[in-house]
Amino acid sequence: MKYPWVQSERVGCSRRAFLLGATGFAAAMSPIGSAAGAGIYDAPAALATMPGLKDHASAKGILFGTAIAPTKNNLSLSDPAYGSALVTECNVFVAENAMKWGSLEATRGALTFGGADAVATFAERSGAKLRGHTLLWHQNVPGWVEPALGSGGAEAVIRKHIAEVVGRYKGRVHSWDVVNEGVGDAPVARADGLRTTPFLNALGPTYFDIAFDAAHQADPDAVLTYNDYNLEHGAPYNATKRNNVLRLLEGLRKRNVPVQALGVQAHLHTGEMFVERDYARFLNDIAQLGLKIFVTELDVDDRGAPMDVSARDAQCADLVRAFLDVTLAQKACTAVLTWGIADKISWLNLPPQPLRSDGATHRPTVLDDDLKRKPMWQAIARSLLAAAAR
Ligand code: G3I
Repeated sequence: MKYPWVQSERVGCSRRAFLLGATGFAAAMSPIGSAAGAGIYDAPAALATMPGLKDHASAKGILFGTAIAPTKNNLSLSDPAYGSALVTECNVFVAENAMKWGSLEATRGALTFGGADAVATFAERSGAKLRGHTLLWHQNVPGWVEPALGSGGAEAVIRKHIAEVVGRYKGRVHSWDVVNEGVGDAPVARADGLRTTPFLNALGPTYFDIAFDAAHQADPDAVLTYNDYNLEHGAPYNATKRNNVLRLLEGLRKRNVPVQALGVQAHLHTGEMFVERDYARFLNDIAQLGLKIFVTELDVDDRGAPMDVSARDAQCADLVRAFLDVTLAQKACTAVLTWGIADKISWLNLPPQPLRSDGATHRPTVLDDDLKRKPMWQAIARSLLAAAAR
């Protein structure tokens, strides 16, 4: 056990990999800094000159990226410092909110692609890939949808929505989150573990099949993904959720539904136990189904960590390091994305999310309020390089 909240049966950080450096990149650009071990991180100035996380990810042969919005908390994609940070760190972007149904079609039939187009254009101009998020989710659904689903035309409504959105970006999207959070949280009411949503109410579990089929027809080249949270930690409710997600995906694969990846959201919590063995076994089960794995929304809710910024940053970074070491050991994992790159635009620091009880703002991401690299940045860099060297 490395930390009270990390149960480990293996050495999470390959010290040998750091020392040897498997690639020229690793040897020349290693962000090891003053210490190779977890818990000790360099000051922002020492991290500033290192290559971006996308370069560390490339050394491992995977993608690194983040969620973006055209403008959020007064930070716009056209802000030079923010834009530069995004392009330096990332080679894949995902729309945080702009591609959700509620953002695209608040009024039935009146499609508004302005925000979604801005995100897609930013990704393309940066030479980065684009993830689409999300086609069916029980949140951010326009008010007109539920009555429309209930009036007997549910399949047609869903197919039209997916054909319009996926069709618009056909050939430009690396992967789509087709269904988001379709499995319930404990205590789960249904025996199959599925979340009761307007889509389930209208069509039963077959709504998954319809959604993935519609997305595949609209863009056969996009990697179609099922995306969910609470899969990472050691608590019993996470174990239940892992089990139910696995059962869902096994069923979809058996029915030849074109699901090709699992998105592990990875909204981590410093207050919760991380049990490496349980999480690693789950990833292995997913890989055995022939699915890719993407880390889609990585960040840390630090309400369980002390107010002191150095101690808090180190705890968040250590947790991310432990989590990524296990994830990146699984070859099926081919992309890691954070849910925002900078603390001041993290959803955890914006209403309606509660602040910490001590009034401090959360420090959930890799860049601070001045867009300087934090210990979490270094933890990710180290984990990517260690994985590249294995
Ligand atoms: O844009 C308005 C702004 O004009 C207004 O002043 C402000 C007042 O609160 O609200 C702003 O809209 C908010 C929007 O985020 C942009 O910040 C919405 O109220 C708020 O509901 C919305 O929350 C988003 C949430 O999904 C619901 O769609 C978060 O940004 C977004 O980070 C979050 O993302 C989800 C993923 O899609 C799925 N996984 C979990 C993740 C976190 O909840």
